[in-house]
This record gives sequence, C-alpha cells and structure tokens, in this order.
Amino acid sequence: MIKINEHFNKLQASYLFSDIAKRVSRYQEDNPDKTIIKLGIGDVTKPLPPACIEAFHKAVDEMAGEEGFRGYGPEQGYDFLRKAIATADFKARGADISSAEIFVSDGAKCDTGNFQELFSPDSVIAIPDPVYPVYLDTNVMAGRTGSFSDGRYEGVVYLESTRENNFVPSLPHQPVDLIYLCFPNNPTGSTISKEELKTWVDYARQNKALILFDAAYEAFINDDSLPKTIYEIEGAEEVAVEFRSFSKSGGFTGTRCAYTVVPKACVAYIADGTPQSLHGLWNRRHCTKFNGVSYPVQRAAEALYSPEGKQQAQALVNYYMKNARLIRTAMSDLGFTCVGGDNSPYIWIEGNMDSWKFFDLLLDKAGVVCTPGAGFGKCGEGYIRLSAFNSFENVSLAMDRIKNSLA
Ligand code: MLT
Repeated sequence: MIKINEHFNKLQASYLFSDIAKRVSRYQEDNPDKTIIKLGIGDVTKPLPPACIEAFHKAVDEMAGEEGFRGYGPEQGYDFLRKAIATADFKARGADISSAEIFVSDGAKCDTGNFQELFSPDSVIAIPDPVYPVYLDTNVMAGRTGSFSDGRYEGVVYLESTRENNFVPSLPHQPVDLIYLCFPNNPTGSTISKEELKTWVDYARQNKALILFDAAYEAFINDDSLPKTIYEIEGAEEVAVEFRSFSKSGGFTGTRCAYTVVPKACVAYIADGTPQSLHGLWNRRHCTKFNGVSYPVQRAAEALYSPEGKQQAQALVNYYMKNARLIRTAMSDLGFTCVGGDNSPYIWIEGNMDSWKFFDLLLDKAGVVCTPGAGFGKCGEGYIRLSAFNSFENVSLAMDRIKNSLA
C-alpha cells in the first residue's frame, strides 16, 4: 500500500494566494460588470527593462547558431552572472562574498522552501508571525511541526511582530536551531537596523543556530543606513544564508531568476557536534534536483548589472515606490495606522476589524483586492496588506474608490 506523507494533511486548505485568487474570480463571475484592481499578491506589472530585453534577444540569437548554442549549463549558474552578483550586490557593500558562494536559481520562493531539506527533522524552527507562508508550510510538509490549532502549529517557535515591537521580533526565549528572517519584511513592510540584525547574528553564533535571511525586497530600501544584506554584519557568513530575487527589482516574476548565497564558512552540525559546511550540502542538493536557469534568462539578469540596466531597474523600483507612498498617504489620511511603504513595496494597515471582513469590504465596495493579514499568521489578524505593484493609474483609482467607499 502506497502511503501518503500525512504531514501534508496538517496544512491549511490551500495556499494563501491561491485562496484569494479563487475568491476574486468567484466575485468577478458574480459581478461581471465590475473592474477589479489587484493590490493583493506582489506581482509586477511593468515590462522588463530594455537592457534585459536586448540581452535576452541576443542570447536567443546565440542559441540559434551551432557555435553559440548551449545545452545544460552549470547548475550553480553561469560565471558571468555569479561574478556580476558578487561584485555589485556584496563586494560593493563591503560584504566579502565570492562568486563561488552564489547559487543561481529560478526563484526565492523555491529556495526558501527547499533549503530546510538540509536539516534534521527534529530541528526547532523559529518563524515570524506574520510570515510569508512558504517558510512555514514547507516545514509542516517536512514534519517539523505538530498539528494546527487555534491559528498555530505545535512545536514552532513563533517570533511575534506586532505594533508593540515595531514589527521587529525579539530574540526567542528558548533555544532554536533554524531562524527565518525577512527584511524589508513581507508582509509588514518593516525594516531592521544593523544594530538589531547584529543581535540575531550574535544569537545564532552563540547558539549554533542558522539564520535563513530573505532579502528579496532589499532593492526597495531608500534609507542607506539600513542593511541591504545580512553579510554587512560581522560574522554573519558563519551563520546565515541569504535569498535574493530579481522578481520585484528587475520585473522577473514571470521570467524567473533568483539566487541564494551560501558562504563557505557557514556550517550546521552532525549529531556529535562536528561542523559541516552547508555550501557542500546545498551544492549536492542543487546539482541533484536542479539543472540550472536557462542561458537567455541569465543573460537578461546579467544585463540588470550594466550601467543602463541598473538605471532602468532603479526606475522600476522608483515607480512602484511612488505607488507605495500614495497608498500609505491615502490610507493614513483615512485614519488607518500604516507600516511600510517607505523602504518596502508593501503597506501593512491596521484595519480595526477582522482581516477577511476587511478584505471582503474592500472587494465588495471598492473592487480592490488586498491580502488579509490573518493569512500570514495569527498576529496578522486585524490587518490587511496592500501591494504597490500595479500601475500608478490603477493605484490612484483604487485609493479614490477606497476613500469614497469608506468615507
Ligand atoms: C507576495 O505577494 O507575498 C509575493 O508576491 C509572493 C511571492 O513572491 O511568492
């Protein structure tokens, strides 16, 4: 008899964003005349930067000839991209990360979801609440949690991010092994200072723990005093893996390209306490389960590091950040307490009502889709998240509609 992995049965009925998409299409079927503005899932709407398009075309043309044709590429990514990443994203910030420590992939979602495979099933995980659901669900699938009751999985150490702690969780009170952190934060839009991040790195070093640092939104940081990478913190290379993505900064949500940094100094331990390099383990896993991102996509990603590409990507970021400011101002003017939108494309809004009720209200009265905070965890109850990823015209219209319907 073939048996299923029963840990899957502990998961909530469906993935948050699929659940929302179903509700929205049901609403659209019932209200075919209404135009809906989506500020829910953070999916980009602007086309790829021209520098990427040009590089893409060129690479496809290369693939059309016997000489330029390429089959399987290196699983870790082509050197041209890994070198560009190490130089611009790390060395330029004073972080000593080499190209050999970069693993190019098809998404930070997959990488943040897959990385937990390297660790023992009995590892104690610390997960923020609210949180991007992928970190939690993949640990549930792996059997690292008990069952779900009263909005929480047993056995998980929840790191509460609330108005009281400015949405930056405090260190756990009990020992934990694997810590997920995301800054600028999805969903709350909060940021972390270098001093605060240092307390986490110090904790991980003292407790032989590992930090999985999701920096997918670093491009949206305006405040230069904030860390863009965890490797700006001394000693982080021993205790932290970092996830990055071109999805939001380069418009690659549909094109798929991201990378994970696994420093050679970073270790986990075998049962007798002997340290083992995570770089070697991840490399083994990556080569077994992944065959690399396509050559044209990697050339397009490389183009984001050219002088024109940098400018064009910055223009995309600026465009969405103008939306973010508009959302934050409009919602604040309506009397809501807001976080984010200054160094992040997400605005976390305290709704003073059940968050699914607020979701239904905005959809019904304004035809605007948000993400209900409760979908990100128990501490998200009472909040909604609005995303800045849409056209400026749609965001302006959405804000007008919300003003009219809530006034
Ligand atoms: C989000 O809306 O939280 C993100 O777009 C989801 C993702 O990047 O997978």
